[in-house]
Amino acid sequence: MKDRARARELAAEFNRKGDVTGWFEQLYQEGEAGKSNIPWANLCPNPHLLDFWKSHPQPTAGKSALTVGSGLGDDAEQLAAWGFRTTAFDISETAIRTSRKRFPNTKVEYTAANLLDPPSSWRRAFHFVFEANTLQVLPAAFRLRAIENIAGFLCSGGLLLVIARAREPSDPEGQMPWPLTRAELSAFTTAGLEELSFEDFLDLEDPGEPAVRRFRALYRFTI
Ligand SMILES: C[S@@+](CC[C@H](N)C(=O)[O-])C[C@H]1O[C@@H](n2cnc3c(N)ncnc32)[C@H](O)[C@@H]1O
Repeated sequence: MKDRARARELAAEFNRKGDVTGWFEQLYQEGEAGKSNIPWANLCPNPHLLDFWKSHPQPTAGKSALTVGSGLGDDAEQLAAWGFRTTAFDISETAIRTSRKRFPNTKVEYTAANLLDPPSSWRRAFHFVFEANTLQVLPAAFRLRAIENIAGFLCSGGLLLVIARAREPSDPEGQMPWPLTRAELSAFTTAGLEELSFEDFLDLEDPGEPAVRRFRALYRFTI
């Protein structure tokens, strides 16, 4: 089982102070110093992104992609390897610095930015947006703003792939990472996107972890 104790402790401490994003930088700094474990850092591309691509390969020539909450960079590198001109952002400067260090010859543009207040130049700027596991580490009250901002990154005809932990509304919210309900994800369609597919599945991919219920959803923005 992954050790999430320190991440949960920091999340609780910062959220109590009203700083809902401050704990990520602290955790990455502790991770860099070898003092804490980054529970989501698998150091490989998301298997559900790879699996999606096998069945839905996309044209990438001349197209741009954006990775939301890019962590240590593996998904962004994969999008760049497929041919997208790729931008990746994370709230944590340390995560961004570590990504650049891990991939010294990268073509990805790594940048520190806040999903809750992203650069205005990213609005309607990307052909493919990938969001995995960021919404579920933001408290529920902040997810709508995050979802609206993600929806706003797509240019006309652009695709958004979202992967998140899943629960029923009647299930307890539990501990961070907080699984999302299908109703929460429906905010992407309220924000103007068309839902092209919605999968609800049990993920058995993570070795040593119990099965996790996840959603994988694909959306398109068309003017
Ligand atoms: C659970 S991790 C997932 C990382 C990666 N997407 C993955 O699936 O392995 C969430 C990531 O989002 C980043 N993050 C959290 N809130 C953010 C925000 N408001 N803006 C940008 N990045 C954020 C965190 O620093 C962390 O790297």
